[in-house]
Amino acid sequence: MDNVSMGGGLKAVVYCSHTGHAKKCAEMFSNRLGVPCYDIKNIKGLGRNSNIVFFGWIRANKIIGYKKAKGFFDIKLICGVGMCKGTDSIIQSLIERNDIDKPFYYVQGGVNTERLSGVYKWILNIVRFGIGKAVSQGVSPDESFDSKAQAEYEDNKELLKDIQNNRDHITDSAVEELVKYYQALK
Ligand SMILES: Cc1cc2nc3c(=O)[nH]c(=O)nc-3n(C[C@H](O)[C@H](O)[C@H](O)COP(=O)(O)O)c2cc1C
Repeated sequence: MDNVSMGGGLKAVVYCSHTGHAKKCAEMFSNRLGVPCYDIKNIKGLGRNSNIVFFGWIRANKIIGYKKAKGFFDIKLICGVGMCKGTDSIIQSLIERNDIDKPFYYVQGGVNTERLSGVYKWILNIVRFGIGKAVSQGVSPDESFDSKAQAEYEDNKELLKDIQNNRDHITDSAVEELVKYYQALK
């Protein structure tokens, strides 16, 4: 991908990542925009109120690192990186639960169980079990199924495969969509 000159005073991209998806997306996005990329744990050199784009991984509907970033930077765009498909209701609930009053973009990252630490691995195993159960008890697609339940069933099936196979959704085209969204904000 070519680098695009964004202007507009964007100083940097800052991320908070546990297993690498938010980091990967933040790095690809910052390369594309030609600005530096920082881990929120090490923001030395970035001044207070700098204009940034923030990426944070999602844990139990909370965008990790956002509170700290919000108190320090002028955030132009908040990107939440989770494992689910970004449906309207998921996005709306993330905006409400995290008190987001700036532009928000949901990124489907992925799950990497090998990189998860102790308690998080354990929690994700419980989640995987719950989704597996929902899928196995789901009505097969050829039975009469309302469209919302059908979509939920399909999303759960995909999410289960994501977790079982450590699938990663951060691709060049996903980042390109995000760049387009960011450019349209200005
Ligand atoms: C304990 C735990 C809770 C999670 N909760 C959510 C959640 O509420 N919504 C979601 O979409 N993803 C959730 N995830 C999945 C992560 O957000 C997802 O794997 C993301 O890509 C991780 O980003 P990272 O690799 O940058 O850490 C959770 C993962 C763990 C381990």
